[in-house]
Amino acid sequence: MLRTHTCGQLTKKDAGKRVKIAGWAHSRRDHGGVIFIDLRDRYGLTQITFNPEIGQEAFSEADKIRNEWVVQAEGKVVLRPKDMINKKLATGEIEVDCDKIKIFSKSKTPPFEISEDKSKEANEELRMKYRYVDLRRKRMLKNLELRNLTTKLIRDYFYKNGFIDIETPCLIKDTPEGSREYLVPSRIDKGKFYVLPQSPQQLKQLLMVGGIDKYFQIPRCFRDEDLRGDRQPEFTQFEIEMSFAEQEDIIKIMEECFIEVTAKIVQDKKMEQMPFPRITWQEAMIKYGSDKPDIRYNLEIKQITEMVKNCGFAVFANIVKNSGVVHALKIENGAKFSRKEIDDLTNIAINSGAKGLAYIIIKDDNSLQSPIVKFLGEELAKKIVGKVNAKSGDIIFFGADNFQTVCDALGAVRVECAKKLNIIPENKMAYLWVVDFPLFERSKETNELGSAHHPFTMPLAEDIDLLDSAPEKARAQCFDLVLNGVEVGGGSMRIHEMNLQNKIFKILGLTEQEAKERFGHLLKAFEYGVPPHGGIAMGLDRFVMLLAGEPNIREVMAFPKDGKARDLMLNTPAAIDKKHLKELGLKIDVE
Ligand code: AMO
Ligand code: AMP
Repeated sequence: MLRTHTCGQLTKKDAGKRVKIAGWAHSRRDHGGVIFIDLRDRYGLTQITFNPEIGQEAFSEADKIRNEWVVQAEGKVVLRPKDMINKKLATGEIEVDCDKIKIFSKSKTPPFEISEDKSKEANEELRMKYRYVDLRRKRMLKNLELRNLTTKLIRDYFYKNGFIDIETPCLIKDTPEGSREYLVPSRIDKGKFYVLPQSPQQLKQLLMVGGIDKYFQIPRCFRDEDLRGDRQPEFTQFEIEMSFAEQEDIIKIMEECFIEVTAKIVQDKKMEQMPFPRITWQEAMIKYGSDKPDIRYNLEIKQITEMVKNCGFAVFANIVKNSGVVHALKIENGAKFSRKEIDDLTNIAINSGAKGLAYIIIKDDNSLQSPIVKFLGEELAKKIVGKVNAKSGDIIFFGADNFQTVCDALGAVRVECAKKLNIIPENKMAYLWVVDFPLFERSKETNELGSAHHPFTMPLAEDIDLLDSAPEKARAQCFDLVLNGVEVGGGSMRIHEMNLQNKIFKILGLTEQEAKERFGHLLKAFEYGVPPHGGIAMGLDRFVMLLAGEPNIREVMAFPKDGKARDLMLNTPAAIDKKHLKELGLKIDVE
């Protein structure tokens, strides 16, 4: 037996026992001829001591040990002297007087200290390169344990509710989730490729055609897109699909899941009760400038387009004339922002596409300080102040442009102001459904119409007529779940009528032939009896990140990729040898 106990197990009740423990030498101190080592494993730290009087040979061996060597120590559990008790450690009342030690393996000096001290944290590149060392830190272990528990609770919940966990393949075809796909070349069918799934979307719909009725899975998904804190090239979803169900059924089953899981994990936070609040996409964009608003704080945006349509500030008046909008964001206590802070906020707005960030400061004596009041006139300015309920000490920011740009810019300014003013309550889990999304969106780059979610999304019943007259105005039976300003999930009801599906393909500019090539398998299946169905997928990494209170999803993944989608530990993507390429019928053509 390599150990009788773990390094987190022994307490004063074990005093007098002879034990064997094993782990990594976390730290080593030499105190006047006695060596103290903190031995660490997944379960904790135990202090082991070596005294030449107890065992000369073990003492000499222990003298060689350096940090992160892996050892086994054997000896007697003894109570620590009163003044040496460490209340912070579960094992802090005892130590093990060792007379035997075995070195399993040595360690080079680690690339960074295994420490929970924030100030000692290595840079992330180093942490990823030596992830196996990084994983020895308590923070990482805690996150992986939390992820494990979350996954277990989710599984338990869906099993309990009659869902069947079904695995779907990863070598598949074109998936229409909207980002670029990863390709896998076929050796047997040279020149042809598999595609890694952006999600199991079509497969789960096919499972509904197959009569599965209630499906769930925790699949890996792959998306070749620009990365950021809550996006990784491969990530994990937990997702369902249900037959003979409506939007309300799916929302309800998910709310119960989130309530159950969240309540078991974060007992110390205030959480939304069922039903979670709901907001339409349109309202979310106007009020919060975002389709994933953080509603833990109040800062709200108001429309003032009508009020300024003929005003003396030419920028506003012209924009309204050209069908643009003007929105105003009041920030309570924002009058104290410095010139530099306002410039920084203006840059945030400009980075979101805005042309500027006009503002009005309401000073202590109620006078207005602003670069635009001289154009607006005092009277209109006061009216606007009244409209947004601003008082002395506040600042009002303005966005004037097309709807989307104004929303994006003020939305970004809103989030930044909340951070600056430190008004985001950390003890809240604020869930919010965003519903009635647009069915289509126009690409900023190509100006082409694309599906906002994916092409199988059902339009709202009352908007079906708009498909002929004004497809851009049509809304979808589509619902996103937002938690503290992060999109944790998205789902929709699916089209199960061929005529409607063909119409959507047509609007998307797909010819019958193209639709057949890309989605023929689904269309064909739908000729064999398809039930009304819908489903949703949640980002597991994002959910765990929020539960763990971590700033990005890399912290809750064992082996994440860096910002350029590289695995720094495996050193991949990497070149492959010519023989392998030839076998696949591939030639590399890069500068
Ligand atoms: P959607 O594309 O909205 O829906 O994805 C669902 C959820 O997955 C998470 N997510 C990501 N997490 C980390 N890194 C990424 N790159 C990433 N991309 C998405 C988000 C998101 O809300 N097939 C549909 C679902 C359905 O209709 O049933 C789908 O995949 O939290
Ligand atoms: P200007 O007259 O260009 O100096 O602009 C006066 C103020 O209006 C400045 O604070 C600009 O940042 C702001 N501004 C200019 N264009 C816009 C716009 N489209 N939306 C919001 N603010 C703007």
